[in-house]
Amino acid sequence: MKFFIDTANLDQIKEAQELGVLDGVTTNPSLMAKEGITGEKNILNHYIEICNIVNGDVSAEVRSTDYQGMMDEGRKLAALHNQITVKVPCTINGIKAIKTLTNEGIKTNCTLVFSPGQALLAAKAGATYLSPFIGRLDDNSTDGIELIAQIVEMYNYYEFDTQVLAASVRHTMHIIQCAEVGADVITAPLNAIMGLINHPLTDIGLAKFLEDYKKMD
Ligand code: E4P
Repeated sequence: MKFFIDTANLDQIKEAQELGVLDGVTTNPSLMAKEGITGEKNILNHYIEICNIVNGDVSAEVRSTDYQGMMDEGRKLAALHNQITVKVPCTINGIKAIKTLTNEGIKTNCTLVFSPGQALLAAKAGATYLSPFIGRLDDNSTDGIELIAQIVEMYNYYEFDTQVLAASVRHTMHIIQCAEVGADVITAPLNAIMGLINHPLTDIGLAKFLEDYKKMD
């Protein structure tokens, strides 16, 4: 399972990269706005900065909702750096754009996915990644992990190449649950990734070993 970090914060991206387990980055307009980045030039430069920190794919989202606008933006984003994946919302125009961008050899991430039907269309269009939003489904009394499991099963059955990128991960247990149902990728905030290391018995055990080492001095 690949680990992506879900942020546009350069310090957090660097910290995750230094851990040595980072496979990529996802951003969205809300995450970019949170960093106070404004103006097209600064936005595009920020994507390049992220690409220069990590080795893997970096999702950059289009803002257009019409097909031609998505295509123009998608091509421009993809030309920035070979690690850029164009993030496109799961709409009719989005599916059309994913199909054309895929035909042009541009990587895509179909975002804002909340149903198996959307997942099927995105895979048929050739999306590189599919982003079902776990946390936002959970927020609406629907089991987000169950959707991941459904899509993984469906994609395996037909051997689709599209990778299931579990998004809207809110906490560490979501990551474990995604691993249990076979998600190809998770994208999570830094604290959810770092939470995987926590166990009080590790801390207690290490303290005891260090104490006993002293007896051997
Ligand atoms: C990433 O691709 C998504 O945009 C992100 O995970 C959404 O997360 P949220 O539901 O916590 O905003």
